[in-house]
Amino acid sequence: MRLREELKHAARMVYGHYLALRPGKLRFRGAFASFDEAMADVRTGMLAGYDHDSVSDVSRSVMEQVPLWDYPILYWLMRLAPELSRVVDAGGHTGVKYRAFHRYLDLERVDWIVYDLPAQVRAGQALVRPEDRTLSFVERLEDAPAADLLLASGLMPYLPGSLVDLVRPMRASPRYILLNKVVTRDGSTVVTLENFGVAEVPYQIRSEGEVPAALEALGYDIIDSWIIDSLGHNIPTHPGLGRCVYRGYVARRREASNGA
Ligand SMILES: C[S@@+](CC[C@H](N)C(=O)[O-])C[C@H]1O[C@@H](n2cnc3c(N)ncnc32)[C@H](O)[C@@H]1O
Repeated sequence: MRLREELKHAARMVYGHYLALRPGKLRFRGAFASFDEAMADVRTGMLAGYDHDSVSDVSRSVMEQVPLWDYPILYWLMRLAPELSRVVDAGGHTGVKYRAFHRYLDLERVDWIVYDLPAQVRAGQALVRPEDRTLSFVERLEDAPAADLLLASGLMPYLPGSLVDLVRPMRASPRYILLNKVVTRDGSTVVTLENFGVAEVPYQIRSEGEVPAALEALGYDIIDSWIIDSLGHNIPTHPGLGRCVYRGYVARRREASNGA
């Protein structure tokens, strides 16, 4: 039995090494200790990272749809709607989820502020339609006015730093934080490279306790969480690192006790 497992493991490793020789064919390749290490390994001729004008179009129309894994977010946005007059959408790209959710939410009465990298903010501003009356953009989170809710859908894999470093510069702590597509693993954090066709982008698979610990440190209680089974995958060049798990969280700021 043990021999069979060892042979299987060896075969997976050999296949991983073989795949590493054909990097252009893989969505994910490599396993690095840091974002900088991953950036330094981007192949010649490829753009490095997300912040490029030509990267803004990659998957934009797909992100403007509402896939199954957006429904927990939509559910919570609808449930919290009476409490929301301003939302900050970190990693909101060109306003993709504003457009996707418009059909379901009354966004006429919610200020929706996208925080993203300069390339996406430029593209987003160029794409604003007359009906996007409540959509605006900032390149620095600290420039966003105080909001009731911080949404970070699909941001965490691309963010070099921690959730704490993301949230602390905000003008005021939002009452709610909604996170989706937080990519995690059972083990230490690993950075891989995602192939965008025109670019390779560092992609952080975080140790599974990291985000709950960050929410705790920021003073939030997790009131809901989920796993998106269908998105899980391994890194083909490093199958031994196992399958990653995509997670979502809803967290509410712990109110200060009134001295009791
Ligand atoms: C996969 S997209 C997510 C789009 C959308 N929120 C969704 O859920 O489909 C990731 C976004 O994170 C943004 N991003 C990457 N690094 C960032 C950073 N350091 N600060 C802000 N946004 C960043 C990218 O520019 C991109 O728009």
